[in-house]
Amino acid sequence: MLAGKHIILGITGGIAAYKSATLIRLLVKKGAEVQVVITPSGKEFITPVTLSTLSGKPVISEFFTANTGEWHSHVDLGLWADAMVVAPATACTIGKMAHGIADNMLVTTYLSAKAPVFVAPAMDLDMMAHPSTTANLALLRSYGNIIIEPAAGELASHLIGKGRMEEPERIVEILEQFFSRRQPLAGKKMLITAGPTYERIDPVRFIGNFSTGKMGYALADAAAELGADVTVVSGPVSVTPRNASVKVVSVESARQMLEACEKVWPDSDIAVMCAAVADYAPLHPADSKIKREGHDIPTIELTKNPDIAATLGVGKRPDQTLVGFALETDNEEFNAQSKLKSKNLDMIVLNSLRNPQAGFATDTNQVTIFKADGTRADFPVKPKTELAFDIINTMID
Ligand code: PMT
Repeated sequence: MLAGKHIILGITGGIAAYKSATLIRLLVKKGAEVQVVITPSGKEFITPVTLSTLSGKPVISEFFTANTGEWHSHVDLGLWADAMVVAPATACTIGKMAHGIADNMLVTTYLSAKAPVFVAPAMDLDMMAHPSTTANLALLRSYGNIIIEPAAGELASHLIGKGRMEEPERIVEILEQFFSRRQPLAGKKMLITAGPTYERIDPVRFIGNFSTGKMGYALADAAAELGADVTVVSGPVSVTPRNASVKVVSVESARQMLEACEKVWPDSDIAVMCAAVADYAPLHPADSKIKREGHDIPTIELTKNPDIAATLGVGKRPDQTLVGFALETDNEEFNAQSKLKSKNLDMIVLNSLRNPQAGFATDTNQVTIFKADGTRADFPVKPKTELAFDIINTMID
């Protein structure tokens, strides 16, 4: 799985940097090409000579090579990589990555990387448990980075607790698992709807909802990582896909979303309807701003929007898979099961607004999945970026 893969190994200034030598050796043995990028303090813990000898490539640390003036392009490096692994990742580097403090080659490379990023923290137990570290790791997770949790054990300080960098053998295993799961959607075309729809009342006002697109874009990134050719039909959101291969078709209203989906669906193998589509739109949107002064309170007459999922369900071929979401506040399971049938879906993902860690705008979600074959799967609260893989894996299971 790792043969021919381009791996950037980011090394920071921690005692666990000695494990990086073993990590390089294991990766190279598996056939990966390893480019080491080390922070200035990383070099205090392990020498570039050791690292370049093991990786077979000069180690990059500074923006320029001092004697030749040669510039190291973090952008090229970021594009070259199939994965970036930061191991060990100190609290300092984790903080810089979380907040975009690009004052060294490692963090600039991280910010330019289009590939998945794995972070293996290593620090003392109190630093690890500090709310600042916890919050920074949560931020990295929300960017789609994969945190390789440190183990508990005796630390460099001789204290016992959580903070030991995961062993190189396990890190390699995690990378192999990651690359092996890339295959299942190769060759598949996937349509994903995301975000809200805005239904215009007049040029300045609309009927909308609280969807941010986080769940839909997490699904798009996960599907692309698993090999799919992904098109997101997206309502107005401020998130963007992390995976450069994901195509985005931006729309505003439910009718525009339907039109865009109808163009993409016939050529798709799978569609996941994650958008929060407004069920109603103003029947007669005003051409100019409805004025407050000197007018009675206006009544907005509504008309029913098309049901996009149900429309795709009507034309679904046997070789296509259609997945819907159900966002419920009451009778959750019953309503989800009803939507599964009425929209001719193969699977429905239920998330409940009763759970404050689920639904709109949160970085986490908690779902129960029902399939048309009668099976169900329950998942605990997880980051949307992780849950996206569970949803797709359940779909292809
Ligand atoms: O974007 P986030 O902030 O991350 O929030 C994620 C989410 C809560 C929006 C997402 O997880 C979610 O639940 N999306 C579906 C929201 C919804 O509209 O649910 P629903 O139960 O009203 O609709 C059922 C299904 O029919 C959905 O797949 C929906 O996309 C689809 N639908 C609904 C109405 C309509 N007119 N056309 C549709 O296609």
